[in-house]
Parts: sequence; structure tokens; C-alpha cells
Amino acid sequence: MNDSINQAVTVLNAGGLVGLPTETVYGLAADAHSPSAIKKIFAAKGRPADHPLIVHIADISQLSDWARDVTPLAMQLARRYWPGPMTLILKKHLSVFDLITGGQDTVGIRLPAHPIAREVLQAFGRGVVAPSANRFGRISPTTAAAVFEELGNKVDLILDGGASEVGLESTIIDVTGQHAKILRPGMISAAQIEAFLASPLSKDIAPVKIRVSGSHDSHYAPVTLTRMVSASEMLALVAKANPSFGLLAFKSTPAPMPDDPQAYAHCLYQRLRALDKLNLSCIYIEDLPADVAWDAIRDRVYRASSQ
Ligand code: TXA
Ligand code: MG
Repeated sequence: MNDSINQAVTVLNAGGLVGLPTETVYGLAADAHSPSAIKKIFAAKGRPADHPLIVHIADISQLSDWARDVTPLAMQLARRYWPGPMTLILKKHLSVFDLITGGQDTVGIRLPAHPIAREVLQAFGRGVVAPSANRFGRISPTTAAAVFEELGNKVDLILDGGASEVGLESTIIDVTGQHAKILRPGMISAAQIEAFLASPLSKDIAPVKIRVSGSHDSHYAPVTLTRMVSASEMLALVAKANPSFGLLAFKSTPAPMPDDPQAYAHCLYQRLRALDKLNLSCIYIEDLPADVAWDAIRDRVYRASSQ
């Protein structure tokens, strides 16, 4: 086994925290069977104790260790999208700690695709809880350096797996009801899931008790004031070229944003994080295309500009 994978397993077994690369964003990983390790996650992030954590597993066969009611709908989605950027919400197995679920009767489960995450999960052999490795309310890290910026030595080991390919957090799908329901949009879009299932998604309003990261508007926000502007407002800003503000525009800037949604999502958090370090008076983000392929990005950009 590779040295760094070995080290990660040692840290997890000792109840420590590992900065773990996944294809969505970097996670702050701990042994899901160790209450003291799980408590360290909440302390390191400054995260309220009632916000539930996602359990990461190495293989679909481990689903039933964590969920008590693995429905055909859940299996259908798991087989199609795992390993990958999707989290399923299922009825929790009775052995799952309240510390993980925030006292809810459901649990979030994901099987990530990043080769390093997979190797660690396989070598560790048990479930690992991993929220995004940022301080509460901040932008999720998509590089190892960003994890260090966020958490410094509150994390025992950070594995460097390069820049997260997807760049946005996983699509969260509640499969506890008859129809699948999206709780957090992600780069696996509602339209793709609907087409794959060939059945409509549930449009019910989520019960108030269910807490989803990002359901506070100000989640995923840079410290710098961030605002969305139309293409024409952006052109006026480019013309002013004032060095005290930052621009994320599709054209007319030295570093334009990609017009392909996958490429945009991949670099969005890295670009916001870089701008956030420059002490700017404002970050302006150009309005996004209306197409559904941009839904998850629009959701994050909206939140980033809701301080
Ligand atoms: O892509 C991702 O999902 C990343 C990587 C590291 O896997 N993880 C991530 O975790 O974004 P986190 O904790 O930052 O956001 C996941 C959110 C939680 O905050 C929580 O609100 C929601 O998922 N969640 C977890 N369990 C839930 C449950 N049982 N019911 C409703 N929402 C839940
Ligand atoms: Mg998060």
C-alpha cells in the first residue's frame, strides 16, 4: 500500500482528522464509528452540532451497514451514479450515531470516485464521515492548499489529490419517499436524474426539520462582498478596470470564465478563493446562462452573493 494511504488509515484509526481529496470538493474525514473523532470535525469547522454529516463508503455492499431501508429506487441511483458526485439520503440504520445525523431518522451516504478517496476508504474498510473541509459557512476547498488555508493544523494529515475535478459539492437526493427529491443541486442535474429514472422528481417542500448544507443563503460565501451583475453591467465594469474589484466574466477580462458549465464549476471555487485573498472592495460575477446545466452553479453563485 502507498505510504500516504497507509498514513491516512493510521490517522483515522487513531481518531484523527484527514483532509481527503474527492472529485467534488475536499472532505474533512473521520472514523464514522468514533464519537470523539466526529466531535473533532465539528470543533475544527466551527459547525453547529445539529448539522448532519455524510457517511462515505467504499462499496455499494456497505449501504446496508448505514441504511435500514435500501429501496429499489436507491439501488437504481446508486448503481447508475456511484462512484460519483451524488449523495443519497436514506432511512438510517439504527446503529448510526445521532452525532452523525443531527438526531434525524435519515442518513446521507456517498461513494466518491476520486482514486485517493477510494483507496483510503477501501484500506480503512469502514465508513468515514466527511463534510467539506472548510470552516463553517465558507467556500468548500477544491485543492489541498485550500484545506490548509481553512483548517491549518486542526487537521492531522492532508492528502494532495490535485484540484477536485467536479469542483462543486455532490447532488443530494432524498430517496426516502416514493419519488426521488433533490435537496441540494449538483453537477448531476435534476434533468439527468429525471430522464434516467423516467419518472418525475418529488417537488414537495422539504420538511422544515431536514437540514441541508447550503439551505442558509449565506453558505459558500467569500469574505469579500460578492454581487451578480448582468452582461451589460459587466461590460461597464470592465471598461472602468478598477483594480479594487474582482470580476468573474465570460469575456473581455484577462482571465475569462469558461462558457462550458463543467469547466466553470471546476474552477469557480478556486477563482473565488484567489480573489478573496486580494482585499478587494467587491467581487462581481456575471449572470449565468439560463440553461438547466447551470442550475447547481447558479445555486452556489447565488449563495456566494447573498451576504
Ligand atoms: O460533495 C460532497 O457532498 C462533499 C464531499 C466531501 O463528499 N461533502 C459535503 O459535506 O458537501 P457537507 O457536510 O459540507 O454538506 C453535506 C450536507 C450536510 O451539511 C447536511 O446538511 C446534508 O448534507 N445532509 C447530511 N445528512 C443529511 C440528512 N440525513 N438529511 C438531510 N440532509 C443531510
Ligand atoms: Mg459544506
